[in-house]
Amino acid sequence: MSDSATTLGDLFDRSCHLLKPVSETHQLDAEILITELGHLQKHHLILEKNRIIPAEITEQITRAVKRRINGEPIAYITGKRWFYKHQFCVTPAVLIPRPETELLVERVLKRHKKHPIESLLDMCTGSGCIGISIASEIPSLSVILSDISTDALAIASQNSHTILKDKIRLIQSDLYENISEKFDIITVNPPYLTQNDMENREIPVQYEPEMALDGGKNGLLLIGEILQNASRFLNKDGILIMEIGAGQVPEIKPLIPSDLKMVEIIKDYAHIERHLLFCSISS
Ligand SMILES: C[S@@+](CC[C@H](N)C(=O)[O-])C[C@H]1O[C@@H](n2cnc3c(N)ncnc32)[C@H](O)[C@@H]1O
Repeated sequence: MSDSATTLGDLFDRSCHLLKPVSETHQLDAEILITELGHLQKHHLILEKNRIIPAEITEQITRAVKRRINGEPIAYITGKRWFYKHQFCVTPAVLIPRPETELLVERVLKRHKKHPIESLLDMCTGSGCIGISIASEIPSLSVILSDISTDALAIASQNSHTILKDKIRLIQSDLYENISEKFDIITVNPPYLTQNDMENREIPVQYEPEMALDGGKNGLLLIGEILQNASRFLNKDGILIMEIGAGQVPEIKPLIPSDLKMVEIIKDYAHIERHLLFCSISS
């Protein structure tokens, strides 16, 4: 593709043509890259095909198209991803939030309507998408976001600042290590890929941090630890809601300690058992 100034219509057509062999969503990819990097709206692509795009913007978009051709996820190229109701900043330090994780947010908000919650720990927070989305719907909520990665926490902090004006506390912690309070709800989307999943992951997923994905040989390394200690960090009637990998329920059941009860399995859009809800049965 030429790096000189071009019309919007030509830029879109050429980007689509280059992306077609590598992306099933080539038109959408081209649309996002051009509108985001060109500071344009979707309607410009339809109504202003003859608009001249300056050479430096064309070059920027050309570079972005090349990164996409190499398999890099769109969200890392634009640095943005919508999740629930907000646009989150994302970098390769954090997992790109997935649509099915929004169901976890919705389940917590549904529970809040019947059993109001006052405190929440979002462990393995990454971009902060879960905790920040819930906090934005419940202004009185006391929220802690925690993660082992300081780079991830820097992104969560940025998102918290942009979306919530900094009303959230962040703690660097290996699971519960630096947590000293109890909560009404703990949300967690831990790394849960198996060694086999890790070895065979697709190219876009290879751009995401291993620490956010790798759940050890059988994918359950962190899940087991999270369950074992959850009750110590839950208030009376508190709940833990956790995202899991496809087909993991039978392997997780034996890991549930006696002070925790699995009370609900929530399926995702593809009817995969995706979220587990646990209730603390100690006081
Ligand atoms: C699957 S990502 C989830 C990110 C985000 N909550 C989401 O749903 O998009 C898992 C996160 O767990 C963090 N993590 C990995 N091991 C951890 C540990 N031992 N303690 C705390 N966080 C950990 C990673 O840094 C990563 O941000």
